[in-house]
Amino acid sequence: MMRSTAAAALVAVVLAVAVAAEASELKVGYYDKSCRGVENVVKWHVIKAIKADRKVGAALVRLIFHDCFVRGCDASVLLDGPDSEKTAPINIGLAAFELLDEIKEAVEDRCPGVVSCSDILIYAARDAASAMSNGHVYFDAPAGRLDGMVSRAADAQADLPDSTFTIEQLIENFKRKNFTIEEMVILSGAHAIGGGHCSSFRARLTAPQEQILPAYRGLLAGKCGAGPDPIVVNNIRDEDPKAIAASVPSFLPKVRKIEFLDNSYYHNNLARIVTFNSDWQLLTEKEARGHVHEYADNGTLWDEDFSDSLLKLSKLPLPKGSKGEIRKKCRYVNHHY
Ligand code: HEM
Ligand SMILES: *[C@@H]1O[C@H](CO)[C@@H](O)[C@H](O)[C@H]1NC(C)=O
Ligand SMILES: *[C@@H]1O[C@H](CO)[C@@H](O)[C@H](O)[C@H]1NC(C)=O
Repeated sequence: MMRSTAAAALVAVVLAVAVAAEASELKVGYYDKSCRGVENVVKWHVIKAIKADRKVGAALVRLIFHDCFVRGCDASVLLDGPDSEKTAPINIGLAAFELLDEIKEAVEDRCPGVVSCSDILIYAARDAASAMSNGHVYFDAPAGRLDGMVSRAADAQADLPDSTFTIEQLIENFKRKNFTIEEMVILSGAHAIGGGHCSSFRARLTAPQEQILPAYRGLLAGKCGAGPDPIVVNNIRDEDPKAIAASVPSFLPKVRKIEFLDNSYYHNNLARIVTFNSDWQLLTEKEARGHVHEYADNGTLWDEDFSDSLLKLSKLPLPKGSKGEIRKKCRYVNHHY
């Protein structure tokens, strides 16, 4: 009895020791033996949450980007703390943290200490993209990531693109993570869902009409006048029909598919009906603009290419030489206890 307790304690200590992150190779079905069914557990919680409120689906799709672009996909964006990534101004509006806590708890009940928060985040974002697109966006997510030990607001500010960026700054920002202009255009299509604070597009309210359709500018200005910094939906389609009819009647959808992840962003963009300066900037460079047309013309192509680009995003590694662990709780590194 004593003996097995001691052995168990020793195992626990060994497991708790952070290992060099490079040791792990990502694999599809990584948890098939160690935590059978974990992907179904994640999916069940994600679907349930999206059924209750589609906003959480958009939040998860944004989280994969904001996690993976900063120190790789290591769930550093989930860590709480005074100057952690989630406190960075660039991370305004990030959400779905409670849902991820709930999923992690369910997964820990099933197989304690086995599944990383980073893998849970990737599975959840993948399932969200899938649910929000009725299954049109989908990929097999490889797993085996370790959770990072470091989360700094300054890293988020340095690595994530700002909505005020010019096309040159956007291209440079994605290139630093080995993403092409085409992939940047593909990933920006995520702005078909969710919303943004008015402070994230304030300058658009006075931008010239080459940059934003005046009727849409008027709609945004009206919404933004309603409070100190309200959230406005990214996609005109998701506005209430009266507001669309009053400002841009040609964008009244024939079939109401609210908060749906599809290629509608590219149609909006070509009509200059997008919220962020960074969205509009895609029209100012030849190659990027060509891809905006390409994805406006072919929604199936976008579904496929967006799936591929999310998969590529999900493989961004931790910085060389950094340590990783399987966190007990996604908000804290283990030595916190
Ligand atoms: C190209 C550079 C990008 C810039 C400058 C940018 C900027 C922004 C900004 C400013 C917001 C609103 C935040 C707020 O005010 O609350 C936002 C929302 C969002 N972004 Fe991006 N973004 C970019 C790329 C991406 C990518 C690559 C993805 C995912 C693949 C993504 C997914 C989203 C989603 C889903 C939302 C809505 C979130 C919600 O409603 O909770 N964005 N983005
Ligand atoms: C981008 O690719 C280069 C060359 O293959 C590699 O050394 C670098 O680590 C990659 N950067 C990222 C962020 O993956
Ligand atoms: C759209 O893209 C899909 C997927 O790549 C392709 O099979 C199809 O032929 C394309 N459709 C058109 C009209 O080009």
